[in-house]
Amino acid sequence: MFLKVENLKKSYKTADVTTTVLKGVGMNLDKGEIGVILGPSGSGKSTLLNIIGGIDRCDCGTVLVDNIEITKLNDIELTDYRRKNIGFIFQFYNLIPNLTVGENIEVVSNISSSPLNIDEVLKAVGMLDKKYRFPKELSGGEQQRVSIARAVVKNPKLLLCDEPTGALDFSTSRDILKLLQKINKDFGSTILMITHNNAISAMANRVYRVRSGEILESSVNNTIIPAERIEW
Ligand SMILES: Nc1ncnc2c1ncn2[C@@H]1O[C@H](COP(=O)(O)OP(=O)(O)OP(=O)(O)O)[C@@H](O)[C@H]1O
Ligand SMILES: [Mg+2]
Repeated sequence: MFLKVENLKKSYKTADVTTTVLKGVGMNLDKGEIGVILGPSGSGKSTLLNIIGGIDRCDCGTVLVDNIEITKLNDIELTDYRRKNIGFIFQFYNLIPNLTVGENIEVVSNISSSPLNIDEVLKAVGMLDKKYRFPKELSGGEQQRVSIARAVVKNPKLLLCDEPTGALDFSTSRDILKLLQKINKDFGSTILMITHNNAISAMANRVYRVRSGEILESSVNNTIIPAERIEW
């Protein structure tokens, strides 16, 4: 198993209230697979993804990524793990507004140990001709494609996507899903994606349904549907 999560628990304390967000979550993903996490708002999906990506910490349980037990790392080691292994794609792109498309990607490529070629990645997401534009000169779908390029350029072992199509219309969403499927195939990246959209599970090898901080149901999908055939 490339990703192995076991008995993961997490609570948040605010003022005098403690909210238990993850109540012993377990999940697995093999190398090169696509995993989907489905579940209602507030069920703990982003918390789970952030812990796997090393931007949040759990209270107990283990997360193994490519044989590294990240739940045992100190802060410096965790930052190093994140930088070397993880690509993040968010719902609202998070591009730097005063940098061009090319520069937004260069920022990440510069701090990576084995980055891919920037133009090659821009070409893969269909944005090479807009390399010198600024984010505000792009549509939402184009901005998301740039944010995918930014996550992919460092050639991460694990690509974590927090509702990457949440802010997009149907046809743009489908283009983004096609692109993620292509990146999974071309670069061999393992992908774990959060979505509210049940239909997207058709393109995943493994599907995890989360409810109130617990895995309600997990399934393995043996017939992967190409993203261009997904309808909703
Ligand atoms: N930093 C925090 N401090 C306190 N509570 C938090 C914090 N982050 C998240 N929570 C709470 O934890 C619960 C789960 O949040 P999380 O963001 O993981 O949900 P989610 O499944 O990603 O929801 P959504 O689909 O709306 O993005 C929510 O009730 C939220 O209010
Ligand atoms: Mg969320």
